[in-house]
Amino acid sequence: MIKKATFLTSNSDFRKCPEPTMPEFAFIGRSNVGKSSLINMLANNKNLAKTSGKPGKTQLINHFDAEGKWWIVDLPGYGFAQVSKSIKSDWEKMIKGYLTNRPNLIATFVLIDSRLEPQQRDLDFILWCAQNEVPIVLAFTKADKLSVSKVKGNVSKFLMASNAIFEEAPLYFVTSSTNAVGREEMVEFMAEQAEEFNAEK
Ligand code: GTP
Ligand code: MG
Repeated sequence: MIKKATFLTSNSDFRKCPEPTMPEFAFIGRSNVGKSSLINMLANNKNLAKTSGKPGKTQLINHFDAEGKWWIVDLPGYGFAQVSKSIKSDWEKMIKGYLTNRPNLIATFVLIDSRLEPQQRDLDFILWCAQNEVPIVLAFTKADKLSVSKVKGNVSKFLMASNAIFEEAPLYFVTSSTNAVGREEMVEFMAEQAEEFNAEK
């Protein structure tokens, strides 16, 4: 797990985010998919990022420090129906502005609800990432809610559906914030990538 994580800042615009001196990893996905919960699980701290049963909880670009070695960024969800069109478009601009303007962004974890068949909204989003050269890693969430074989089935369906987008299948993790599934694998991945980034500085 991440031994020590602390909140740094919240911003509505990438231009106000911290100077990109540290490697960072962003967490994105549909509202309520479990982004903030996953961050808390990785850090073993339920009070780090704000979570909620209601979609639309995270509304800003939130930076957290992980062990002084890398940053984690909690983003608002996409595809949240219950806000006005203008707010939705502001959020979209904020997210897309952030994702395309951070030279220190090593990877964006795109969270996918492991209970669902491939969703067009998620496929559209990862297509946008591919077109904009935003490097992604998939994280399937809420794996505690269904059987291992059902999770496997939905993961393969999603990978098949995203086949047309990528030449090489993206790296992925299966996670559960309830059971800490995927924690060590994800933290190890971030630690390794961050070390490489810091060594090249
Ligand atoms: P927004 O900030 O609104 O975009 O949502 P989010 O993606 O950050 O989701 P959040 O972490 O707030 O979690 C949404 C709901 O899903 C909460 O009720 C969580 O308790 C629940 N949840 C998140 N991860 C898991 C998980 O791995 N297992 C289970 N069973 N529930 C989860
Ligand atoms: Mg959130």
